Amino acid sequence: MDMETAKLILHGQEHEFPVTVGTEGEEGIDIRKLRATTGAVTLDPGFGNTGSCESGITFINGEEGILRYRGYSIEELTEKSSFLEVAHLLIQGELPTREQLDHFRHRLTYHSLLHEDMKKFFEGFPPSAHPMSVLSTIVASLSAYYPENDDPTDIDLNIVRLLAKIKTIAAFAYKKSIGQPYVYPRNNLTYTGDFLHMMFAVPSEDYEIDPLVEETLDKLLILHADHEQNCSTSTVRMVGSSGASLFAAISAGVSALSGPLHGGANQAVINMLERIRADGGNYRKYLNMAKDRSSGFRLMGFGHRVYKNFDPRARVIKASADQVLARLGVDDPLLDIAKELERAALEDEYFVSRKLYPNVDFYSGILYRAMGIPTNMFTVMFAMGRLPGWIAQWKEMHNDPNTRIYRPRQIYVGARARPYVPIDQRS
Ligand code: SDX
Repeated sequence: MDMETAKLILHGQEHEFPVTVGTEGEEGIDIRKLRATTGAVTLDPGFGNTGSCESGITFINGEEGILRYRGYSIEELTEKSSFLEVAHLLIQGELPTREQLDHFRHRLTYHSLLHEDMKKFFEGFPPSAHPMSVLSTIVASLSAYYPENDDPTDIDLNIVRLLAKIKTIAAFAYKKSIGQPYVYPRNNLTYTGDFLHMMFAVPSEDYEIDPLVEETLDKLLILHADHEQNCSTSTVRMVGSSGASLFAAISAGVSALSGPLHGGANQAVINMLERIRADGGNYRKYLNMAKDRSSGFRLMGFGHRVYKNFDPRARVIKASADQVLARLGVDDPLLDIAKELERAALEDEYFVSRKLYPNVDFYSGILYRAMGIPTNMFTVMFAMGRLPGWIAQWKEMHNDPNTRIYRPRQIYVGARARPYVPIDQRS
């Protein structure tokens, strides 16, 4: 079949570029020879129309609200799989056999300790340090203890170390912030159970893991595990494309995720709902503020660059919120405010015309709160979930012989050439 092409006419000259078609029929105009043949570059602030790579990891259809990891729907994986199984699927490309999953789980269990000397890094932070800053710092420092090279066996071991240690780093950051002693990993607990134990156990009493909390957290981690070329994943790929180490690339991804327009939104949603509650629950006031650009206020947890119908993850989280809160015996007024806000926004022309719907961050904070996770740890939970996706995307980039260092071009709009002016002649 003849390859489809796209024609561009510039200065009266016609140029033709191949069109590549993805598994699900997505079309991409391949412009890698554009500048060489036309002298021009494209301009696409925020890269909303630009594909940075070809990837076989995650498929999203924003119009139909479809999200699949390696072909499996997020709905099925959340219902039938586990976070460790999904992590294996994303990183290795296939669902593990029982033996592979047991081996994977064993490796993650026995690499969950941090080197004792690393505790000194935590001591350097004030209690007020945001856990995302701590997480980014400690992840970057792993390369000081676990040297990195291009040997596939060493890369594989460092991937295991990252997945195993991120929950220990997260829990230690939390314990440091509240002045409690660190709780060490337990080899007899599940991945999520061990995290909850490290977060909430205290030396003076036994901590009993609530199976519902453990199960709910596992599902939330699955829902956050990957999301194709989002801001933080693109950061991981960009940093990795220079040949920087896996730990350096993931640390950069943690930093990118911390922004309130990205992973930091789940914390911002709760802060917004608390503000509405403190203001007498007057959600319409805030809805109107969000419609007024000059207010600088945005409805956090609403809108998405890709989903223009609904975020399937938000649907799954919202559907489970009522049941989980009821079973935990939690009556959170913020959930009622969130539902009122969503209903009002979805009836409002401003939001409907801009296709602004709740995204993954709108309801996730309600569940984290109900499970007793403090607000400033919400984005750390997002990072824990997203880590397998970042790793899978880094590995795909790292192993692709066609990978080139990320180096976008620009359109220069600054001053023309001009001579230096001595300081006493400047006005
Ligand atoms: C995540 O990319 C990913 O996949 C990310 C993520 C992942 O899994 O990795 O899904 C996770 O980051 C989810 C998004 C979390 N962020 C928020 O909830 C913050 C609030 N949302 C927005 O800031 C915004 O919707 C973004 C950042 C999510 C998307 O930004 P875009 O695509 O650049 O959209 P835009 O800013 O160009 O907005 C288009 C219009 C504008 O109005 P007009 O200029 O046309 O008049 O919609 C308006 C915006 O003002 N708008 C909003 C709004 N989001 C967009 N108005 C009010 N409240 C909002 N939340």
